[in-house]
Amino acid sequence: MPVNYLHSLLHRVEDGWDPIPASYASSYAEMAWSERSPQIVQDLDARLGGLSGKRVLDLGGGPGQYSVLFAQRGAEVTWHDISRKYQAICRERAAAAGVSIRYSMGYLEDALRFLAEPFDLVFCRVCWYYGRSDRQMARLIDSLVKPGGVGYVECNTPAFSRPRGWRRLQSVLNQYLWLKLGHPMPPHGRIAKLLQRGDILHITLDYSSPLRDIVVFTKNAHSKS
Ligand SMILES: C[S@@+](CC[C@H](N)C(=O)[O-])C[C@H]1O[C@@H](n2cnc3c(N)ncnc32)[C@H](O)[C@@H]1O
Repeated sequence: MPVNYLHSLLHRVEDGWDPIPASYASSYAEMAWSERSPQIVQDLDARLGGLSGKRVLDLGGGPGQYSVLFAQRGAEVTWHDISRKYQAICRERAAAAGVSIRYSMGYLEDALRFLAEPFDLVFCRVCWYYGRSDRQMARLIDSLVKPGGVGYVECNTPAFSRPRGWRRLQSVLNQYLWLKLGHPMPPHGRIAKLLQRGDILHITLDYSSPLRDIVVFTKNAHSKS
């Protein structure tokens, strides 16, 4: 049984488990909110022909800096994450901005609960590597984007964390054997390769930094998947 799956059976969100320490959550939130990029949202707005009225999933939404930006453009936003502390921060920020957001707690894979109501945009920023496997993450995101919809994935590469010791071993096992122990960052290029297996009309790759891959795709409007 894969280790990360076993871990998720032993650490249940319903029982109050939250992997994020309070002090880390507040310092990350400060940084994330001050460094959020309205340009990303502007570009997605253009790609979708407007966000107003569109259904957006902020997968691993954290402190909600993008959830709130999407909602301010009139999108119906679902925030999904494992951390109650981040949920509280997102709620506070959304209230201050005067927008409403739907909240969903759980592991990334638990977002499959939305399969019957796929999204115009699935936004997954800096949390892909918390999934149980890279292949599973690609399938999850693809299945949650509706035909004609858009997926946005931004994820750090191993060059970002420059893992050493045990983390280096985790990274190598993931790179060569696709074995996931913990949360190694996927090798450069893997996310795009996996997402291209879906029924995709168009894909944009931003590899301008060796530290992160940014992949944006539009699903075929006639897709049956
Ligand atoms: C680096 S933060 C990114 C947050 C946000 N997307 C952003 O752009 O700032 C990673 C997020 O993944 C969430 N997370 C970590 N492991 C998770 C898991 N197994 N399932 C769901 N969310 C998880 C954390 O709570 C955190 O909100």
